[in-house]
Amino acid sequence: MTVPIAIIGAGIAGLSAAQALQKAGHSVHLFDKGHGSGGRMASKRSDAGALDLGAQYFTARDRRFVEQVQQWVAAGWTAQWKPQLYNYRDGALSPSPDEQIRWVGVPRMSAITRGLLKDVTVNFGCRIAEVFRGKQYWHLQDTEGCSHGPFSRVVIAVPAPQATPLLAAAPKLAAVAAGVQMEPTWAIALGFEPPLETPMQGCFVQDNPLDWLARNRSKPGRDEQLDTWVLHATSNWSKQHLDLPKEEVIELLRGEFAELVGCVVPPPAFALAHRWLYARPAGNHEWGALADADLGLYACGDWCLSGRVEGAWLSGQEAARRLLEHLE
Ligand code: FAD
Ligand code: NAI
Repeated sequence: MTVPIAIIGAGIAGLSAAQALQKAGHSVHLFDKGHGSGGRMASKRSDAGALDLGAQYFTARDRRFVEQVQQWVAAGWTAQWKPQLYNYRDGALSPSPDEQIRWVGVPRMSAITRGLLKDVTVNFGCRIAEVFRGKQYWHLQDTEGCSHGPFSRVVIAVPAPQATPLLAAAPKLAAVAAGVQMEPTWAIALGFEPPLETPMQGCFVQDNPLDWLARNRSKPGRDEQLDTWVLHATSNWSKQHLDLPKEEVIELLRGEFAELVGCVVPPPAFALAHRWLYARPAGNHEWGALADADLGLYACGDWCLSGRVEGAWLSGQEAARRLLEHLE
């Protein structure tokens, strides 16, 4: 029997590592505390349909990721989004078209990680509390007190603050992860009927509590009835209002939206709020991934590169590369 490799976190970084390791002939076993895959790239099911509340779209600049995205397009998981983009600055709204290619999962962002789960063993609803090594192999303990293992190696693919305690067996790696600051984002969704009278489909916002607006059904393959908008607050505003009740967050951000969107905003037929506690790393890093190859412990995620889908995917590839390199 071959002893599998454990991967903690079924976001895009963990699934990227899983795919690369499986391709090299290893068996992997994933664990995620959530009830589905995707992490910050997931979509939330709601009365207004499945909404992309985290990652809104992604760009591909690294050649390897460009090739990967082409495969996702061929598989039908990804399509280009061509929004009518605006910019809001100094109290003025203006069209802001550009040439950037932007990708989304279809029919929702989570389609990509859902697709990557095929043929992978995964335990959902399982929050890992401890990673420890026996005489030869690794074991994981979850918060319900269940033990999982043995595993030959462990890849930790969760945000840095959540990775820190799991890296206790490798204090140097734990110290690096502990030094990474991650910032929150409040996200809200507002659904309108009839649709708002604006041609806008996406908007970058400056000098405002809001950071970004997107019209969810302008993305390819969506079929929601309501005209649902996803609004993201800035990191600063989110930090200052971290513990505000959801209803108040919705009220405050709805007010900002109504002021800047440039058309009449009636009371929404639908509203929800979601707080991303570890939305993005405060800065970029160039680690690729963290590794203690002798121990067999690895860490990856967007925080090892850039706080973007591409950074997370590349980091998962790098963790797998380092692991495989050590086996040669
Ligand atoms: P995650 O997606 O966070 O995955 C980690 C997984 O680990 C999660 O599924 C979590 O449930 C699980 N987990 C954590 N702790 C444990 C534990 N102890 N045990 C078991 N499982 C655990 N990027 C872009 O490129 N474009 C965008 O437009 C964009 N917009 C964004 C907007 C928001 C509001 C947010 C929050 C992020 C956005 N991003 C965007 C960033 C992008 O979503 C992330 O960079 C990327 O999804 C991170 O992937 P990851 O696999 O590193 O981490
Ligand atoms: P990108 O190239 O579309 O955008 C990068 C940045 O350039 C934007 O944030 C914006 O400031 C500016 N920009 C791009 N096109 C513009 C236009 N037409 N008009 C005005 N400004 C424009 O995408 P990239 O580099 O892949 O970045 C991903 C996006 O994800 C960024 O917008 C980033 O802010 C967002 N993100 C949000 C997080 C959150 O927690 N809210 C977390 C991680 C990423």
